[in-house]
Amino acid sequence: MKRWLAFALIGVAVAGSVHAQTAKTNKKVTYADIQPIFRDKCMACHRPGEIAPMSLLTYEETRPWAKSIRKEIKRKAMPPWHADKETSKIFRNDISLSDEEIDRIVAWVDAGAERGNSANIAPPPRFLEGWQVANILGRPPDVILYMQEEYTIPASGEDINKDFEIPTNFKRDYWVIASEVRGNSRVVHHNTTTVRGPDGARDRTGRLSSAVPGKLFDLFGPESAKLIKAGSTVVFGMHYHPYGKEEKDRSKIGLWLAEIPFVFRMHSSVVADPDLRIPPMNGNFLSVGEYTFEEDSEITAMKPHMHYRGKDMEYKVLFPDGRKEVLLSVPAYDFNWQINYELKQPVFVPKGSKMLVRAHFDNSPTNPWNPDPEAEVLWGSDSSDEMMEGWFDFRRKLDVKVDPEELKLKPGEFDHIIPPSEAGSE
Ligand code: HEC
Repeated sequence: MKRWLAFALIGVAVAGSVHAQTAKTNKKVTYADIQPIFRDKCMACHRPGEIAPMSLLTYEETRPWAKSIRKEIKRKAMPPWHADKETSKIFRNDISLSDEEIDRIVAWVDAGAERGNSANIAPPPRFLEGWQVANILGRPPDVILYMQEEYTIPASGEDINKDFEIPTNFKRDYWVIASEVRGNSRVVHHNTTTVRGPDGARDRTGRLSSAVPGKLFDLFGPESAKLIKAGSTVVFGMHYHPYGKEEKDRSKIGLWLAEIPFVFRMHSSVVADPDLRIPPMNGNFLSVGEYTFEEDSEITAMKPHMHYRGKDMEYKVLFPDGRKEVLLSVPAYDFNWQINYELKQPVFVPKGSKMLVRAHFDNSPTNPWNPDPEAEVLWGSDSSDEMMEGWFDFRRKLDVKVDPEELKLKPGEFDHIIPPSEAGSE
């Protein structure tokens, strides 16, 4: 890990000095100058086995796409990131390009997309195989839960949204500090995992994790943990994207449990508008909702969710003293990317604060994704229905001390959770 970081730093240093020269001598921008941008902002998705259609790991692989790259980055379609930088807070997982980075890549394409000096091109990062969190925490997941059956995704057709229930068979409560979902990355576009409590009711506050292209895991620990109660069910909300070949998937989730006491309990909640009723031919339908924090909390992340007619969404906090602050504004929502916006600095909200969410929907014929502008659209989980959901994560200081003894796992504690054969998943 360290060694690759060193490479990355060398790469940036080299690129920086060459760039300075470029300004002075008007020297052509070459691939060697801008490769660090590709490494930091593109390669996580654009590599073999990932959902992006082509690999951008090397110059040879990147060169044929130069014109297309110029187009996609200029219209800010790539990398996928939809927060408005002017009004939103700063996010730690922001992968968007700066204006300067866009200018340099465009200058490279316009100057003939040449390679430059190979000696200045660092090797692509070594992407980790298997569980990513295992490499961060230094241990495999404590428990792995699998989809009960393999699911077949046809070669062609519409994207498939489908829920799969996975009983945890947990005999006691567990505190989770990290979770990671893995599946057949050729067809799994994204997956949002929620928890149904032991009473069987869909636990709205139980968003566990999400996996979207380029992001496979959620890490709350070591200072925070999420509680999964005994007898809970994990629900995988799968979004499959057929691509020309029949595929099978049996996704799984790895959970890392707290080993040492932590200070915050992680929560998830959602501002939703289940009474949503979007009139036909309305291009700018407003839907609003709010949530009141019943205790002092710290907001850590936000994840807008709408379907084909989703147009924009804004999250704003109304503090008890009347002050308002925008946390996230997504002016051009794109349902293809279920991005979780993770705040760099958690935002403290005292008891009584409100999370206000505003969203617009475009049910007009000018929305190219609109399946039927003549329809009155109601709330529902099918893609042809709509949802207005502003998910968010927050944490609260625990008021009781966690007993370290309770966190200790007994040998064989998960032996009754039998892994199926892993055929068809990876
Ligand atoms: C989070 C994952 C992700 C990241 C990061 C990402 N891409 Fe993509 N890219 C995709 C996917 C998936 C597609 C397929 C089209 C789609 O679904 O929008 C794509 C499509 C493209 C295309 C269009 C290909 C075509 O068929 O015409 C280009 C060009 C592109 N990406 C360039 C880039 C560049 C350059 C970067 C970095 C600056 C980047 N992408 C970062 C996932 C990603």
